[in-house]
Amino acid sequence: MALNLEEHRLYLQDRVRLAAYRAAIKATVRPGQTVVDLAAGTGILGLLACEAGAGRVYAVDESGMADLARDLARANGFGERIEVIRGNAFRASLPQRVDLAITDQMGRFGFEAGLVQLLADARQRFLKPGGVTVPAAIDLQIAPVKCAPVASRLLFSDSRPGGFSYRAAQEVALNTGYPITFRRDDLLGAPALLARLNLVEDRAAISGSVSMPIETRGVLDGIGGWFTARLSPAVSLTNSPLSACAINRRNVFFPIARTTPVENGDVVRVEMKIMPANLIVAWRVEVRGRDGALRARSSHSTLRGMLLSGAGLNRLKSDYVPRLNRWGEARRAVVNLCDGAHAVSEIDAEIHRRYPDLFASLEQASVFVAEVVTRYGLLPPAGDDARGSQRYVAPRLRVYHGFAALTPGREPLEDPEVFGIAPPEG
Ligand SMILES: C[S@@+](CC[C@H](N)C(=O)[O-])C[C@H]1O[C@@H](n2cnc3c(N)ncnc32)[C@H](O)[C@@H]1O
Repeated sequence: MALNLEEHRLYLQDRVRLAAYRAAIKATVRPGQTVVDLAAGTGILGLLACEAGAGRVYAVDESGMADLARDLARANGFGERIEVIRGNAFRASLPQRVDLAITDQMGRFGFEAGLVQLLADARQRFLKPGGVTVPAAIDLQIAPVKCAPVASRLLFSDSRPGGFSYRAAQEVALNTGYPITFRRDDLLGAPALLARLNLVEDRAAISGSVSMPIETRGVLDGIGGWFTARLSPAVSLTNSPLSACAINRRNVFFPIARTTPVENGDVVRVEMKIMPANLIVAWRVEVRGRDGALRARSSHSTLRGMLLSGAGLNRLKSDYVPRLNRWGEARRAVVNLCDGAHAVSEIDAEIHRRYPDLFASLEQASVFVAEVVTRYGLLPPAGDDARGSQRYVAPRLRVYHGFAALTPGREPLEDPEVFGIAPPEG
């Protein structure tokens, strides 16, 4: 099933989002200006930039969508103006610096799809001095919320799946952020601004603390989060449940340890710390009555919800000396065989021969090889788009050796369980 395009269709169908980007891009782009569309998908933002008069657009996307974006640019008469670059935006290079960087990598809480890092990198490597980003700034907003019975289901509070107790799952469940669409009346108090990010620098950590008075009597289940992005001085875009023209994007729900009845005048204090690159959010919530008496307090972190074992965490300590497990060895073998001399079919056969304990059949080995080659192999020469074919001689490697789990920061963080040998427990 090709769900990829379906996901993009949903983005394209969001009229509020498109209208906001169209207005902001029209207000920002001057005739003939150069633009980079980061994480372009189908390239819609680049098309809007051309419509607004851009002279040249570089549309960067790492997925197969890039090829479709190229076709769409041509079909809309912008084939000469839009240059599609297939590759990861953090490693891509542009032929020239540009006037404007545009993107919609905001996720549900504004930071978690890579927006902060993408635009900081664009500022350093792609933008001319004084270049502009769309969005230019983003506000992270939170509010005290009720959302039973969703919360009770998510947190296994009183549900017994299959008739079994799942209480043991609660620790993980309470340390997880959930995509939820809140309604206006789920809010027990007015939203507060947790942090405002001017998108000019890479921020290792975002933190904020706010106190929010309860305005509606009810039962507090946790904290809701969403964002408002400033696309241009006059145009904003939000997924706030309070907005009459919100985009079609869910919000985030951060639970608290125990649902807590609250009255008007009670105060919910939230401290939140976010590490965007690692997608870690820590939140501490305190509820006090009108009289100042503490009613509830709990601390949470998505790090605790990540199901990392003690041994798994030890493996991330800086003094731990890792060795590869069998899967890591197999991957290294594929990487080494991508030397510009071996055809994919030869690599498949060699990996199957060397690792019979991992791959029961040649087909299984070839799926493993394909994953490495499509991710790290140089593209075949133009006109020979046969990277997956058995004839294609496997490429020399692009950029780095390929153990994403060992390269912190901007590489995709693969599950360290897969490639590293766990150190002894304790
Ligand atoms: C949210 S969709 C793009 C939406 C598109 N800009 C739009 O407005 O409709 C995300 C796209 O970004 C691409 N992507 C995500 N991270 C990327 C990165 N670091 N470099 C290049 N492409 C990336 C994905 O392949 C996917 O096609």
